[in-house]
Amino acid sequence: MSYTDKMLRDDALKGKVIVVTGGGSGLGKAMTQYFLELGAKVAITSRDLEKLKNTAKELEAATGGSCLPIQCDVRHYEEVENMLQEVLKTFGKVDVLLNNAAGNFISPTERLSANAFDTVIDIVLKGTKNCTLAFGKHWIDTKQKSSTVLNIVTTYAWTGSAYVVPSATAKAGVLAMTRSLAVEWAKYGIRTNAIAPGPFPTKGAWDRLLPGDLAEKFDMAKKVPLQRVGDHQELANLAAYLVSDFSAYVNGEVVVIDGGEWLKGAGQFNLLEAIPEELWDQLEMMIKAKKNK
Ligand code: COA
Repeated sequence: MSYTDKMLRDDALKGKVIVVTGGGSGLGKAMTQYFLELGAKVAITSRDLEKLKNTAKELEAATGGSCLPIQCDVRHYEEVENMLQEVLKTFGKVDVLLNNAAGNFISPTERLSANAFDTVIDIVLKGTKNCTLAFGKHWIDTKQKSSTVLNIVTTYAWTGSAYVVPSATAKAGVLAMTRSLAVEWAKYGIRTNAIAPGPFPTKGAWDRLLPGDLAEKFDMAKKVPLQRVGDHQELANLAAYLVSDFSAYVNGEVVVIDGGEWLKGAGQFNLLEAIPEELWDQLEMMIKAKKNK
């Protein structure tokens, strides 16, 4: 058994219809592929229809599943409503919304234009709001028995992070939305959960967030207590569990999957990791000697 193995049993998502925003590439694509392998029908959305079509074709060929590409800029509510209608027209229903679409760039905040700040907030926070509101209204109106919203946040949603302030601000909002709706919409059979991934390298995000030789200079694996970055299948396994009926009693949860990365930055004495064994012997003697005086 390895952490790169596929976790759920065959057909674990059979009969489910899932929408993955930002499903054309990166982590959205990896999760989509696993959902298809588990028997779900999946609609993938983004602004780039050509990319979506290629991904859908590739994933259908790889899995034998049914993948529908739909162009939709999540920043615009009418486009989200149209996307929902297209999903319903094609698949007859929808069970799961995975809010995965995101926008981010690194920059000192004072260098950002007001429009740059808005752009990230609009994609991440307003986009998640648009999709969640449209799908939630539909599920409540049609009295669908069980449905799920899964949001992709980040560990800096609660700590904040320098140099990605619009993203941190927006993801904190998504986190609050996740926990709020988990309570408010539970009575309609809607579960709301989130995943906070640590470093899971993807070409798009890595080129954007660690351009040039930054990726080598700031080796993300070194920041992680488990000393490695995440494998896409690990994230896909967790996402599949959280949208499946196996997690029917999980609601309002935010699952961190980061090898312990954010806690390493948080613990006051975690930097003592750098102390070698021999030095610990000396330190122990010094501390005990002081105590005995
Ligand atoms: N640093 C600072 N400002 C930036 C920027 C950067 N790297 N990239 C874009 N901007 C600014 C632009 O200058 C513009 O502001 P202005 O009108 O005041 O000049 C504003 O942001 C909008 O840029 P634009 O390119 O028009 O936005 P877009 O809607 O086409 O693109 C982005 C959205 C900016 C998020 C784009 O980076 C993108 O599509 N990214 C891919 C998805 C992604 O980021 N995924 C997340 C991976 S972690």
